[in-house]
Amino acid sequence: MPVIAIDGPSASGKGTLASRVAESLGFHYLESGALYRLVALASMRAGISESDEEPLAGLSARLDARFSAGGIFLSGEDVTEALRGEDIGNLASSVARLPRVRAALLERQREYRQAPGLVADGRDMGTVVFPDAVLKVFLTASVQVRAERRYKQLIDKGIGANLASLSRDLAERDERDTKRAAAPLVPAPDAVQLDSSDLSVEEVVRQVEQMARRKLE
Ligand code: CDP
Repeated sequence: MPVIAIDGPSASGKGTLASRVAESLGFHYLESGALYRLVALASMRAGISESDEEPLAGLSARLDARFSAGGIFLSGEDVTEALRGEDIGNLASSVARLPRVRAALLERQREYRQAPGLVADGRDMGTVVFPDAVLKVFLTASVQVRAERRYKQLIDKGIGANLASLSRDLAERDERDTKRAAAPLVPAPDAVQLDSSDLSVEEVVRQVEQMARRKLE
């Protein structure tokens, strides 16, 4: 079953790109970051510290998560909005450092590989989860462009945001995601690297769709 892996740093636009490409190919879509965000939210609610690996791994293995067109559900509760906050994103990046948390989520991610195919976005789709993906894209953009995009996204959703602190948080998150020992954020050797700083969403979607169709021929 073909997989298209789209990896990259926070706010690089990989979610929009991946969901658009999935829709146009009629493929399933896996937003792997949402799983780490769900673990972050569930751990916050359960009062588990972000460095307590054992209980966090247990919680990840038992996570009752459901993705549907209507939203993302945790134990039956719609948590789509709760997951989007920067606090949850930052906590997700902390729990994502833990190898046992990553291991607990690995098979779950691979279960999304179903007919007719899958587009998966995250940090390690092309390197660890789907190393045999037919197409691997590593999407980047400058910190400044990403901070501006994230700022706009949050403001549009009615969530308060501050550009300077977003920019700082993104740089910190990049550093943590890139430097960690377990599945760090690095392009797979066979990934196509795409810098979207000066490209519109439409242009990036068009380029990746073209590459995908060529690979799937
Ligand atoms: O939307 P944004 O790119 O900020 O984050 P996300 O994709 O929702 O992921 C949240 C956090 O989960 C990231 O900062 C990563 O540390 C972690 N993550 C990961 O480690 N591996 C993945 N495949 C996806 C996300």
